[in-house]
Amino acid sequence: MMHKRFTSSTRDIPAVSAVPRHVAIIMDGNGRWARKRLMPRVAGHSRGLDSVRAVVRACMERGIEYLTLFAFSSENWRRPADEVSFLMQLFMKSLRKEVARLDENGIRLRVVGDLSRFDPELVRTIRESEEKTATNDRLHLSIAANYGGRWDVANAVGALMRAHPDRREGFSEDEIAGALSMNFAPEPDLFIRTGGEKRISNFLLWQLAYTELYFTDTLWPDFDAAALDEAIASYGGRERRFGRTSEQLVEQGAAGHHA
Ligand code: IPE
Ligand code: IPE
Ligand code: MG
Repeated sequence: MMHKRFTSSTRDIPAVSAVPRHVAIIMDGNGRWARKRLMPRVAGHSRGLDSVRAVVRACMERGIEYLTLFAFSSENWRRPADEVSFLMQLFMKSLRKEVARLDENGIRLRVVGDLSRFDPELVRTIRESEEKTATNDRLHLSIAANYGGRWDVANAVGALMRAHPDRREGFSEDEIAGALSMNFAPEPDLFIRTGGEKRISNFLLWQLAYTELYFTDTLWPDFDAAALDEAIASYGGRERRFGRTSEQLVEQGAAGHHA
């Protein structure tokens, strides 16, 4: 269960490059995209899938190693039953349809989140898709489904307690990070939220500690490779200090992205 392959941004200073290694996206605005066109909200979800394909391709072309997409939050069950059921069907259909192509492109697919509430048939399809792509490593594509950042931390602590029933002194940051559902990935370098809202909505709470945040009004169905490039350009202009001063970065010759 425990991995210690990546630097924790609060314990060590990670290496920084001009192109983010890990991009995490809240794909928001599907409903509004459809309503603007007098279409049912769910039509926006279908169109959103085209953006997923475009962004996956663009990430591969740009050498991004990890792409994590928020597809369904632990709070999205509060939506009307017919929208929830449409989203589940769409998830199932697209997994079945796309997995061969993901595999051909060397993409490793993972689904992170609490799968216990999903239909067993969907869980089976998810596990089969993960297994089929398990030896790929060109791009690590993770879909967060019934995911919540608080669930993730609580789940990690529960797993650690079961693994160490006699532990009295609590758990270290590294132990908790190693038990989170994204323990296979470095922390996101760049977070993108489409759709204009400026909030995290219970996405990767622990891992976003030092992630660069980028918010755009573009609705997810309108988000494409050019929009991704704008986000990457914004990221490229940031100075990632991880608590240090700007002067220290210059002294160390590590200013901005020239580390
Ligand atoms: C994001 O789009 C997709 C999911 C949450 C599944 P929304 O459905 O939230 O679209 P808006 O925010 O209502 O426009
Ligand atoms: C966040 O979008 C979750 C996903 C995109 C899957 P929401 O549309 O559910 O977020 P809120 O409700 O506006 O915060
Ligand atoms: Mg929304």
